[in-house]
Amino acid sequence: MKRIAILTGGGDAPGLNAVIRAAVKTAIQVYDCEVLGIRDGYDGFVNPGGIFPLDHTAVRGILPRGGTILGTANRGNPFARKVIRDGVEVIEDISGAIMESIRQLNLDALIVVGGDGTLHIAHEMAELGVPVIGVPKTIDNDLGGTDYTFGFDTALVTATEALDKLHTTAEAHHRVMVLELMGRDAGFIALHAGMAGGADVILIPEIPFHARSIIEKINSRIERGTTFSIIAAAEGARPVDGQQQIARPGDSVYVPRLGGIGQVVADLVSQGCGVETRVTVLGHLQRGGSPSAFDRVLASRFGAGAVHAAADRKFDCMVALRGEAVCTVPLAEALAKPKRVDLNGDLVRSARDLGISLGD
Ligand code: F6P
Repeated sequence: MKRIAILTGGGDAPGLNAVIRAAVKTAIQVYDCEVLGIRDGYDGFVNPGGIFPLDHTAVRGILPRGGTILGTANRGNPFARKVIRDGVEVIEDISGAIMESIRQLNLDALIVVGGDGTLHIAHEMAELGVPVIGVPKTIDNDLGGTDYTFGFDTALVTATEALDKLHTTAEAHHRVMVLELMGRDAGFIALHAGMAGGADVILIPEIPFHARSIIEKINSRIERGTTFSIIAAAEGARPVDGQQQIARPGDSVYVPRLGGIGQVVADLVSQGCGVETRVTVLGHLQRGGSPSAFDRVLASRFGAGAVHAAADRKFDCMVALRGEAVCTVPLAEALAKPKRVDLNGDLVRSARDLGISLGD
């Protein structure tokens, strides 16, 4: 193995730099292999200055840093790129130019760090002959094939801290505080953070909610003399008789941006319970900051594992955590079905045992 490249795509997540650092160190120390960094996702293959060498110096000090030293793009699908031509928006396929750039670089492997969108593209490129290894990243933890993605734990820490802080105002002012959390169509962040942060109601996309259930829960607390409550609502949660709240509609290229369910829930609680209710949308704070110790370790293991997988020529695969072990799984298998909260699992059961309302 003489030369590999690494890129980061999709939304940023804490731990991206830890992956890059581990991949570079492993490639150089174990395999004496050159590593190239690709800037801003797949775009770097065709943008001027988009390809540059990564060595020990380049990755020094980046382990605790959020973001990615490579930059990223979550609107960078080479097979369907929106551009303005003569004032008109068109969708173009620049995958040919990217494939040519990859071919000229004579790469032994391309390590792609990303979530479902970026890894779907990686899989398409692998089918065209690119020696791709994936690394699963997302705060949403919604990728199949792996027990955990890196970034999720840090997002949880941030969300839990937010719930702890909201408790103080809730209690002092006798209010209901609603925290809207990310996660797209998966409720992992809301469910885990809600449990860790002592939420009274947790709303997740996997369980459409009844307004009546939420109101009953808040009112029963008020009847018992507890004049405050905390609600953790996933951005993808929806009422049984309604749709997800869309902040910006999607189209043939981009998925819709979710947002707004927190306010919907707050309105129905203030009307149904007659209590003062406030909403906090935690937003991109969940993606920012220094990775937790768990994410630093997982990301480092993934980075090193990806380089070993490249040396073993396990292409069109991604590294994954299964139980205690880092292994590889075919991208096709990992991407076949997105991961969702197991409604019959121990976590959901425990939440119910604790008296947490899941809105159903
Ligand atoms: O997939 C990660 C994520 O943060 C989701 O939880 C969220 O819905 C989405 O990305 C937001 O994306 P953007 O930063 O493009 O608005």
